[in-house]
Amino acid sequence: NWSMDDFIDQQIEKIRETVGDKKVLLGLSGGVDSSVVGVLLHKAIGTQLTSIFVDHGLLRKNEADQVMDSLKGKFGLNIIKVDAQKRFLDKLAGVTDPEKKRKIIGNEFIQVFNDEATKLKGIDFLAQGTLYTDVIESGTSTAQTIKSHHNVGGLPEDMQFKLIEPLRTLFKDEVRELGEKLGMPHDLVWRQPFPGPGLGIRVIGEVTEEKLQIVRDSDWVLRDEIAKNGLDEKIWQYFTVLPGIRSVGVMGDGRTYDYTIGIRAVTSIDGMTADFAQIPWDVLQKISVRIVNEVDHVNRVVYDITSKPPATIEWE
Ligand code: XMP
Repeated sequence: NWSMDDFIDQQIEKIRETVGDKKVLLGLSGGVDSSVVGVLLHKAIGTQLTSIFVDHGLLRKNEADQVMDSLKGKFGLNIIKVDAQKRFLDKLAGVTDPEKKRKIIGNEFIQVFNDEATKLKGIDFLAQGTLYTDVIESGTSTAQTIKSHHNVGGLPEDMQFKLIEPLRTLFKDEVRELGEKLGMPHDLVWRQPFPGPGLGIRVIGEVTEEKLQIVRDSDWVLRDEIAKNGLDEKIWQYFTVLPGIRSVGVMGDGRTYDYTIGIRAVTSIDGMTADFAQIPWDVLQKISVRIVNEVDHVNRVVYDITSKPPATIEWE
């Protein structure tokens, strides 16, 4: 596609012109947008880019490793990875309200990023994966974006960055196409949507390490079966949730009293409305058997058959 090749050349030239011999900082979340920004900037300015990857411990199984292997291993980005799961779990202890959980995770993310950023010296620019849809929604000019970022980010007064937002004119699909053009793996670039608060809002109520483990392992089984049965490009978003209820079951000669896992799978265009996906019964059966067999402390699997509206896609 000629226009995407042109876009890459133009952006690289523009970034080089803007940055000169100065340094740029990028916050990696593990998501598609910031990853694509990282690869594009690396191509333009190489070692003048430093990235901070805040691993909040709420990513899916293997996701942090996959991002690191690709961006650091394959593309050679300079990445400072911060393992912050404990910090996040401490802050989330005892919190059950979904909106409070979201706020805590968002704030802590900025805190961890700032703690690392303040250790670095001589950085002039901050890169962000802002998309065209973000620009329209916030309706702000560049100048205002810098201000609001400064405010929201709560960075110290002496750390005033200029913003670089190379994806500002692109829609999500174009960002994915750009990623592929830059040589990023198809799987990484076409991952299903994943909320910023991650598995933190898929463990309903209080988040604990044990519950995260259960939701992460069951989610992995679900994704594995969806892929093996060729459904991954047909279903828009699919994941498991841990509602936190326990129920009675029977295994061997014994009675069990263990957790229930919910399967959520939807078809959608943009996430605003959605229908529950009609996964074939035999696939659901395989998923159910495997989750109970392979994931500790689960003895029941249920399937969410609600569309949006009236339900939302996520349970929190
Ligand atoms: P809901 O649950 O509102 O989700 O139907 C619609 C889409 O948005 C995602 N989602 C989020 N994404 N931060 C995000 O970045 C969030 O707090 C958040 N909450 C929901 C959700 O995964 C779905 O794709």
